[in-house]
Amino acid sequence: MDLNLKGKIAIVTGGGSGLGAAISELLVQEGATVVVNYIVDQSNVFKFVDSLNEKYNSNCIPLYGDITNASDIDNIIARCVDIYGKVDILVNNAGVWPTQYVENMSDEEWEKTVRINLTGPFMFSKRVVRHLIERKSPGKIINIVSQAAFHGSTSGHAHYASAKGGLVTFTVSLAREVAKYGINVNAVAPGMMRTPMNKKELAEREAEYLERIPLRRISDPIEVAYTVAFLASDKADYITGATIDVTGGMLMR
Ligand SMILES: NC(=O)c1ccc[n+]([C@@H]2O[C@H](COP(=O)([O-])OP(=O)(O)OC[C@H]3O[C@@H](n4cnc5c(N)ncnc54)[C@H](O)[C@@H]3O)[C@@H](O)[C@H]2O)c1
Repeated sequence: MDLNLKGKIAIVTGGGSGLGAAISELLVQEGATVVVNYIVDQSNVFKFVDSLNEKYNSNCIPLYGDITNASDIDNIIARCVDIYGKVDILVNNAGVWPTQYVENMSDEEWEKTVRINLTGPFMFSKRVVRHLIERKSPGKIINIVSQAAFHGSTSGHAHYASAKGGLVTFTVSLAREVAKYGINVNAVAPGMMRTPMNKKELAEREAEYLERIPLRRISDPIEVAYTVAFLASDKADYITGATIDVTGGMLMR
């Protein structure tokens, strides 16, 4: 199936590592041009973007920015529009997964986790929606949530699970608001992927996680990226407000 992404301009937040890197590469492979947003690890992200451009003869760029900072987001969108003339696709992928039980969780840690995992996607989506409405253009927004949005936390991630649950509800709410402009807003819920985010946790408790996954393996990020690329394409024009679970059965609902 040709995803028909040629000529599309996508922004992937946290696009230089883990799932974000798999999404960025797949979108480029399918013909899109990607703005790879990052906040740390600049030299590796630059190398990654160079490698994409070499491999696919593309014209992608890395752009620094904190997704919780309004002027950083404004700058990313302005640079993207300056360079490519538009934004068509936003993937709200950046996130953090700190571990702390509620009884010991500081108010600051709660607020920071919710700010990165929920408020950041709201701030970015709002600005991309304004750009699309102004351009009178359809577009696609894909939010990366988690099985934890539906199960709740099992091991010290109540702030994360709450933020991801909020992001599912935001996805539905925004989808209703902007459907009339031809803007589709969907979410993808991974289960457990092998990425830098959970390297330490998997080293300590992989067997416990496998017990909860009927397919009995941790996924490769590309297995989740396929669904994101599909939702970014015109093949998903009739899907909006949905959350697609890619969890090996860890989440069945
Ligand atoms: N790894 C898993 O098993 C798993 C499971 C469910 C959901 N997820 C979700 O998948 C997404 C990608 O995570 P990953 O597993 O690839 O981990 P990752 O740590 O490799 O990726 C997260 C990225 O977000 C970036 N980031 C963090 N805060 C940021 C900020 N304020 N501004 C800009 N960028 C910021 C990080 O630098 C990193 O590049 C996240 O939303 C995560 O919650 C992951």
